[in-house]
Amino acid sequence: MRNEPVFSVQGDAELIERAGHLFESANTEFLCAARDLRTWSRPEARAAIQHRMRARELAGFTTRKLLSPVDLGADVIVAQGTESGGHGARRGRATLPFVPVVVDLVAPVAVLAAGGIADGRGVAAALVLGAAGALIGTRFQATSESLADAAITEAIVRGRAQDTERNAVLDIARGARWPTTKYTARTLGHPYLDRWRGREAELAADPEARAAYQTDVARGVVPPLPVWAGEGVDLVNDLPPAADLVAALATQAENALARAGRP
Ligand SMILES: Cc1cc2nc3c(=O)[nH]c(=O)nc-3n(C[C@H](O)[C@H](O)[C@H](O)COP(=O)(O)O)c2cc1C
Repeated sequence: MRNEPVFSVQGDAELIERAGHLFESANTEFLCAARDLRTWSRPEARAAIQHRMRARELAGFTTRKLLSPVDLGADVIVAQGTESGGHGARRGRATLPFVPVVVDLVAPVAVLAAGGIADGRGVAAALVLGAAGALIGTRFQATSESLADAAITEAIVRGRAQDTERNAVLDIARGARWPTTKYTARTLGHPYLDRWRGREAELAADPEARAAYQTDVARGVVPPLPVWAGEGVDLVNDLPPAADLVAALATQAENALARAGRP
C-alpha cells in the first residue's frame, strides 16, 4: 500500500517545477489542475513523466481542452464531475453524462471517473460508463490513515450532500491562488460562505474582510481550512482503514456488476 501522500499541484509553474522532483518517488501521484497544459512541455515536467507518473488529473477540463492532454501523451485522463469534493470547473458537468463523453473523446487513453463515487456501486457505474476505474477523494479522507485533521474527518462523516456547495468564496477569503473565475471548490458549509455567498467580487476587493478571515482562523473562530467534500459524503458514515475500504469497494462493485448483469 502507498505510504506517501497524494501531492497536488494547482496551476502554478513554480509548484509544477517542485512536483517534478517529487516524481523521483514512484509512489507519488500527481494531480494537476494546471491552467495551461503547455507547462507539461517544460523539461522538469517531462522528466517527471519519465519517473513513472501514475496518473495525471486534468480536473474539470472542458471536452474541447481534453484534446490537449491527450496530444501531450497523458496515460490517464480523469473525468471529474461537479459532484466531486474539492476544486473543479465552475461551469462543469455531472459525472454520469460527462464520463462517457470523455471516454469516447480520448479513446484509447484510459479514463478514470471522479466525482460522487463513494462506494462500490459507484465504482461499478464508472466501469459501466466505460471508465477504466475511479478516482475517489472525499471517501478516502474519512479513513484511519487520512492526513486530514480529525475535525475534518468527523465533519465528513457527519456531513450531508445538501450541506455541500461549490464556491470560490473560501478561496478568495483565504487568499488561495486558484483562478477563481474558472474554478470553484465543493466544500461543506462555512460561516464565511454564508456571509459572502454571491458577493465574490466584493470580497476580493475587500482586504479588511480577507484580513478578518485570517484573524478568525488564528482565533479558532473558523477552521484553518475549508472542508473539501463532494456529494458522495452521504455515503460516508465511518472511518475504516483504507485497505478495508478498498476491499469493500471491490466486493461491492463486483456484486453490483453481477446484479446488473442479471436478465
Ligand atoms: C481534500 C481534497 C483536495 C483536493 N485537491 C485537489 C487538487 O489540489 N487538485 C485537483 O485537481 N483536484 C483536487 N481534488 C479533487 C480530487 O482529485 C478528485 O477529483 C475528487 O475528490 C473526486 O471526487 P469525490 O471527492 O466526489 O470522490 C481534491 C479533492 C479533495 C476531497
